[in-house]
Amino acid sequence: MEVSGLDSDGRQFKNAGEMWREQIGEEGEGEQQQHKKTRWYREGISYWEGVEASVDGVLGGFGTVNEADINGSEALLQTLLSDRFPNAGKNQHLVALDCGSGIGRITKNLLIRYFNEVDLLEPVSHFLDAARESLAPENHVVSDMHKAVNFFCVPLQEFTPDTGKYDVIWVQWCIGHLTDDDFVSFFKRAKVGLKPGGLFVLKENIARTGFVLDKQDRSITRSDLYFKELFSRCGLHVYKSKDQKGLPEELFAVKMYALTTEMPKRIHKTRSKAQANRPCIIK
Ligand SMILES: C[S@@+](CC[C@H](N)C(=O)[O-])C[C@H]1O[C@@H](n2cnc3c(N)ncnc32)[C@H](O)[C@@H]1O
Repeated sequence: MEVSGLDSDGRQFKNAGEMWREQIGEEGEGEQQQHKKTRWYREGISYWEGVEASVDGVLGGFGTVNEADINGSEALLQTLLSDRFPNAGKNQHLVALDCGSGIGRITKNLLIRYFNEVDLLEPVSHFLDAARESLAPENHVVSDMHKAVNFFCVPLQEFTPDTGKYDVIWVQWCIGHLTDDDFVSFFKRAKVGLKPGGLFVLKENIARTGFVLDKQDRSITRSDLYFKELFSRCGLHVYKSKDQKGLPEELFAVKMYALTTEMPKRIHKTRSKAQANRPCIIK
């Protein structure tokens, strides 16, 4: 990413390479790079370890955006399900993975209503414990046919899903913790976890240009262009994208991307052969 970016103190970086070299070191630095990278991830996790396990906590004090967020996601999910899984709710058994799930806010308010099984992945154990508790059958029953099944306490950069398990892998408000290389290798590994026709939904804050490094929680907010460069490195295609509406103005813009491993089919409005061969009258 050649465009300049900022950190949360307003310091400018010429490009993402300069920022990453400073944050996680350079290839060839061997052990020193590994050490810096380990520190980057450790500081990200310890930030969240100090946050209360509540909707307000996982939404950075903006618990009031929960409703708009879930409604925006639900509208996209309904379109995706009717496009890609027309038998959902009839005889198709749907399975989702909620990545960086926090306390299970998205699973509880959205995914569990549409998917028969949802697995949650979250590296911060007190968040995952809260999710396990609030999604336990005695506390939260949608129906016997819809349940949270596995609770994986691992970070995305260390996770590989079982082959062909998921219809949708939902990644919201957590990918900023991953370095570019780990972003790409996560999605490349996770592709194998999709069923045929399955897709990723990535929902994220969007920087106006370049990137913004948050020094407090060790995450970066990328621009739309930055994301698109990474999608292309992952071999992923944007099947649909949508802006989240109704968020307070002081927050970053938020975008949802539905990503597929196969190239979306383009509908070409070509003229029929008969029409194409018909001589035109030149006036
Ligand atoms: C802003 S919260 C969002 C939680 C949840 N996705 C939601 O929208 O309610 C960010 C989450 O990312 C998790 N996280 C931090 N580093 C991570 C990593 N390396 N891999 C996966 N999740 C991570 C945090 O523990 C936290 O639960």
